[in-house]
Amino acid sequence: MNKAMIKFKNVSKKFGKNEIISNLNFEVKEGEFITVLGASGSGKTTTLKMINGLEKPTAGDINVAGYSIQKGKLIEFRRHIGYVVQSIGLFPHMTIAQNIAVTPKLLGWDKEKINHRVDELLDLVNLPRDFKDRYPAQLSGGQQQRVGVARALSANPPLLLFDEPFSALDSLIRQELQHQLKDLHRKLDNKTFYFVTHDINEALYLGDRVMVMNHGKIEQFDTPQNLVKHPQTEYVKQLLDTAQENQKLWEALK
Ligand SMILES: Nc1ncnc2c1ncn2[C@@H]1O[C@H](COP(=O)(O)OP(=O)(O)O)[C@@H](O)[C@H]1O
Ligand SMILES: [Mg+2]
Repeated sequence: MNKAMIKFKNVSKKFGKNEIISNLNFEVKEGEFITVLGASGSGKTTTLKMINGLEKPTAGDINVAGYSIQKGKLIEFRRHIGYVVQSIGLFPHMTIAQNIAVTPKLLGWDKEKINHRVDELLDLVNLPRDFKDRYPAQLSGGQQQRVGVARALSANPPLLLFDEPFSALDSLIRQELQHQLKDLHRKLDNKTFYFVTHDINEALYLGDRVMVMNHGKIEQFDTPQNLVKHPQTEYVKQLLDTAQENQKLWEALK
C-alpha cells in the first residue's frame, strides 16, 4: 500500500464568521492523480491553499508528506510543492529559462545543473529547447501554461498542486494539455497531482479519483467509474445527469 501524501483530519476553515470548510476528512496516497471538482465558491482553492500552508485551518490537522501543520513544519516544506495556477504567473521580464529556474536558483544549484534541468523540462512538456531565451509574451497561452508546469516541476517536488490551470485556454488547446498532463503523470515516477477544476469532463478524464466538493464538504471521493455508476448523493447524481445531457446534446448536433 502506498504511503499517504496528504491527510486532512477534522479540518475546518472560517473567514470571520463564515465557515468555508466544514470538518473535512480525506487522504491522498503517494502517486495518485486527484481531481477536485466543485462549483465556484465550494472551497476548492481554500483547501488547496491549506495544503501548501498559504491558508491555515481554523481547526483540525493537516499532514503533507509526513509534515504536520500543527508542528509548524509544513511551511518549510512548501518549497517542495509545485504550484500551477490559471494566471500562470510567469515573470514577464525574465526569459523562459530564467522563469523555469527560479526555485533551483533559490536552492543554490550550480549553473550547469540548472541548464541541464531546463533542457530536460522543456523536453518533458513538449516545448522546443530554443524557447529558452524567449520572453513569456512571445509564447501562446498554451505554451505559457506548459512553462508553468515545467517551472512547478523544476526542483523535482513529490507533490504538485494545480488550481484550474487550463480554464483560460480555448477548448482544443485545453484538450491537448489535458492529454499531455495525464501522460506526464504516467511518465513521472510516483508524483502526486492534486488538480482543482470546475469542469466535470476534465475531472473525470484526469483523475484516478475525483473529490466532489459542495459548500465546503465532500459529497463523494471516488474513482470516475464509481462516480458514474454509483453516485452516492443527489448532488453528484445531478452533476452527472447534467454532464450526460450535454453529451447527448453534442451527439444530436453531430
Ligand atoms: N481571504 C478570504 N476572505 C474571506 N472570504 C474568503 C477568502 N477566500 C475565500 N473566501 C470565501 O470562501 C469561499 C470559498 O472560496 P474558494 O475556496 O476560493 O472557492 P473555489 O475555489 O471553490 O471557487 C467563497 O465564498 C469565498 O468568497
Ligand atoms: Mg478557486
